[in-house]
Amino acid sequence: MSTQIIFQGFVVLHLIGFLLFAGTSVADFVGFRQFWKQYDLDKSKAATVMQAISVFPVLMRVGIGLIILSGIGIMYMTHGVFGEQLWFRVKFGLVIVIILNTFLFGQRQKKQLKKSFETSAGTAQKIRSNISLFHTVQLLFVFIIILLSVYKFN
Ligand code: HEM
Repeated sequence: MSTQIIFQGFVVLHLIGFLLFAGTSVADFVGFRQFWKQYDLDKSKAATVMQAISVFPVLMRVGIGLIILSGIGIMYMTHGVFGEQLWFRVKFGLVIVIILNTFLFGQRQKKQLKKSFETSAGTAQKIRSNISLFHTVQLLFVFIIILLSVYKFN
């Protein structure tokens, strides 16, 4: 198999991972908007929405895993040449922020929300604004990463 085909295979996997990650991030954002709408009206319906959207973080993890593995593959095939370019360094920093945002912040807030929802422990106002911040950071940074990856500013 030629190196060109292997390289293109990594790019295809990178874009599939990107599709999964960015797609489910948007779906998670839209799903949460529905959740909060129902939360204010009818908590039993909100529970159903919560159940439906709880699968998204799993797909996000699969997506980010695929992105990282294929990204490493691309770097290997290109002998790390992108690693010296400014756009890539900024992108890499943003990827780290996105990973921390997903695992240290977003996931924790969602767990707390589930807990407070199940035990009916008061309103979840603070968690609501934290999850909104999580989605803003996630979507904004993914957008900047797309710009950096395509335009490769230097
Ligand atoms: C949330 C994370 C990421 C997203 C959304 C993302 C998205 C993208 C997109 C849309 C492209 C453009 C593909 C093209 O022009 O054909 C790209 C290219 C690239 N990505 Fe990523 N990426 C991410 C993380 C990573 C990571 C972690 C690495 C390295 C370990 C990486 C390495 C690369 C490289 C080297 C290219 C240039 C490929 C080329 O133009 O030949 N990416 N990425």
